[in-house]
Amino acid sequence: MKKAWGGRFSKSPEQWIEEFGASISFDKELVFEDIEGSIAHVKMLGKTNIIPLVESEKIADGLEKLKAKAEDGKLEYSASEEDIHLNLEKMLIKEIGAVGGKLHTGRSRNDQVATDMHLYLKKQVEIIIAHINELQTALVDQANKNVETVFPGYTHLQRAQPVSFAHHLLAYFWMLERDKERFTESLKRIDISPLGASALAGTTFPIDRHYAAELLGFSSVYENSMDAVSDRDFIVEFLSNAALTITHLSRLAEEFILWSSKEFNYIELDDTYATGSSIMPQKKNPDMAELIRGKSGRVIGNLMSMLTVLKGLPLTYNKDMQEDKEGMFDTVHTIIGSLKIFTGMIATMSVKTDSMESAVHQDFSNATELADYLAAKGIPFREAHEIVGKLVLSCINKNCYLLDLRLPELKEACAEIEEDVFTILSPVEAVKRRNSYGGTGFEQVKKQLDKAQQLL
Ligand code: ARG
Repeated sequence: MKKAWGGRFSKSPEQWIEEFGASISFDKELVFEDIEGSIAHVKMLGKTNIIPLVESEKIADGLEKLKAKAEDGKLEYSASEEDIHLNLEKMLIKEIGAVGGKLHTGRSRNDQVATDMHLYLKKQVEIIIAHINELQTALVDQANKNVETVFPGYTHLQRAQPVSFAHHLLAYFWMLERDKERFTESLKRIDISPLGASALAGTTFPIDRHYAAELLGFSSVYENSMDAVSDRDFIVEFLSNAALTITHLSRLAEEFILWSSKEFNYIELDDTYATGSSIMPQKKNPDMAELIRGKSGRVIGNLMSMLTVLKGLPLTYNKDMQEDKEGMFDTVHTIIGSLKIFTGMIATMSVKTDSMESAVHQDFSNATELADYLAAKGIPFREAHEIVGKLVLSCINKNCYLLDLRLPELKEACAEIEEDVFTILSPVEAVKRRNSYGGTGFEQVKKQLDKAQQLL
C-alpha cells in the first residue's frame, strides 16, 4: 500500500517489519485526541489563510465524520498505515478527497503525537483525581463509623499501642490527599500545547499557535519547538505520581490481606472482592487486594521503563519515544481500576469490632500506659520503663496480661501504683486519653475527620 511518506522510497518493508514498527494496535486509544488536535490545527490553518477557509471547513467536517464513526466503533485501522495519525489522514482523504492532504500543512507527526498525549493525560489525570476523591470518601465514611472502634496499632508488625480504627484508616486518607495534590500540581505541566512546533524547528507558515492552543483548551504553549517535541517529562511525572499512589494502595492491600486472615481476623471483605479455591472448599481469598498489591509492580515498572527510554536520548523526536505509550495507557487503566476496586472494597467490608476488642485485651499494648502513669507520679521515665518491662516479663512467665494482675502484685512492683491504675490500663482509655494534636484520642480523631471531610 502507498505510504504517506513513500516518495523517497523504492521498496516497501515486509509485512512483519511493518507490524513491528507500527503503533496503531495501541495508539488507537488516542483517536479522539488526534481528531480534536487535527480540527484545531485545520481551523487555525483556515483562520490564518494558510489554506482557504472553505477547505479548512471541509476538512473539519470530514474530521467530524470520522469522529462520529469512531464513536460508533466503525473505524478500521491498518498496520500498514503505521499509527493513528496516518490511519486517520488516510481515512480523511478517502472521505473528502485530495483536499484532506492539506491537513498536515505546517505540522509534523512529532508535534501531533505530543499534542495527543497532552490532551489524553489532561483528561485522564482529572478522572484519576475524581477517583482518588471517591476512595477518600469511602475511607471517611468507614472512619466515621469507627471512631471508637479500638484495635491494636503496630510497629515492626508487633503489637504497639491500641488505636482508633478510624485513625488507622484516615492515615490513608492523608496519603491519598498528597497523591491528589501531586496529580493536580502536575496538570500545570500537562496543560501546555506543543502543537505548531512541527517536526522540531517550527514552520515557515504564518501559523498561530496560541489560537490552536486556545481551541484545545490549553493554558499555554511550549516556548521552544525543540523542547515541545522532545519533552516526555509530563509522562514521567504522571507515571511517578501513579507509582506512588499504587504504592500506597499496595500497603493498604497488604493490611487488608493480613486483617482478613484468621490470625488477625479484623475485617471480612465482601464476597464480590474475593474468590474461592478450586480444591479447598473452605477458602475465601482476598484476590482483589492481592492483585492490586501485585499490579503495583507493573506500575512501578512502567515508570522505570519510561525513564530508561529517555535516558541518553538525543533531541528531538526519536522513534524510541513511541515506547512512551503502552506503559502510560497501562498505568492509566491500572490505577483507575485499582482505585475503583478499593473504593468498593472499603465501602462494603465488615469490621469485626468484637474480634478487635478481644485482641487489645490479649496483649501488652497498654504497657506504655503504665509507664506514663508512673512517670506522671514523678518517677523518671527511664525507671518507669524498667519497672513495667519487668512486670511484663513476669506476666509472660505467669501466662497473663497486665489487667489480670491485682493491686498488691502491682504495688510489689512499684509502691506508687493505686487503684486508679485499672482505668488507665483499659485499652479504650488508652486510646481516649491520647489527645495530643493529631493523636488517636477520640476527640482528635473527630477533629481530623472534620478536616478530612472539608477536603472532599
Ligand atoms: N507513532 C509515532 C509515535 O508514537 C508517531 C510519531 C512519529 N513521528 C515520526 N517522525 N516517525 O511516536
